[in-house]
Amino acid sequence: MSNCLEDIKTKKLHPQIGLEISGVELSQEIPDEVFSYILDAFNKYAVVLFRNQPLNDKQQITFSRLFGELEPTSIMKAATNQFIYQISNIDGYGKVLPADSKKRALLEVNTNWHIDSSYKSPPALASILSARQIPIFESSYTEFCALIPAYEDLSDNEKQTLRGLICIHDYNYSLNKKNATGVPQNEKDTLQPCEQPLVHKHSDNGETSLYLSSHISSIKGMPVNKGRKIVDDLMKTCINPEHIYRHEWQQDDLIIWDNRCVMHRSTGVPYKEVRRAHRTTIRCKMPLVAV
Ligand code: OGA
Ligand code: MN
Repeated sequence: MSNCLEDIKTKKLHPQIGLEISGVELSQEIPDEVFSYILDAFNKYAVVLFRNQPLNDKQQITFSRLFGELEPTSIMKAATNQFIYQISNIDGYGKVLPADSKKRALLEVNTNWHIDSSYKSPPALASILSARQIPIFESSYTEFCALIPAYEDLSDNEKQTLRGLICIHDYNYSLNKKNATGVPQNEKDTLQPCEQPLVHKHSDNGETSLYLSSHISSIKGMPVNKGRKIVDDLMKTCINPEHIYRHEWQQDDLIIWDNRCVMHRSTGVPYKEVRRAHRTTIRCKMPLVAV
């Protein structure tokens, strides 16, 4: 099949976030007009799902590069390529990790609401996750929270208070919260905390969005506890079903999400069955712009 615009069909996933696109094969060449369609959907719906996309790493990288420059991975690196994160509950022999494994603790970090690479500057524009092996009996969901509508729902007073605040994002803070000790010190040393605005202007659709993530360790210029309380309270307000799409994975699903205006989390890591997904990450061209 060659990809053409006329074959595309779409279905909304949730009133506030997410679009499923069908009629495209991502392993094949994507003509410019088809990619423009996908890019527009990504900028408008923030989460884009494609079902039945059996990709290898090379094909995933080729598709991902259409969105921009890829971010190399440092942690949980897949053997095949530095641009592929392997997110899996298996060891090097393909066996499911024991309950007390260090790598499992690292995966647990993803069960906190977060934005990928929010602790880097410039941060990640998008993540693309390809479901290579999905459990049949155990559940494995990823939840996505729409941060543009979450900002819109705040009172004028709250918006005013939050605009202009600068947060410190620190991956080591997240690792410590989950007692995740599996990351070598030399890798940790490369991950210095960085600053991001709490409210920013989306670089493509121009909307105002929160930039909220469990990686926030403090708010600049504020006592640590005061800053954390603001972040915790805001987190509670945002994680309301009105803003959340919960995705139940099927084998060969591929999801692209916009890290500028979506936070996400995994609902847990299966204990018996293999779950393996490969992620590519696209970097923002520029730092976020505060509003
Ligand atoms: C990620 C992530 C959640 C999941 O890939 O960045 O947080 O459910 N994944 O695997
Ligand atoms: Mn993530």
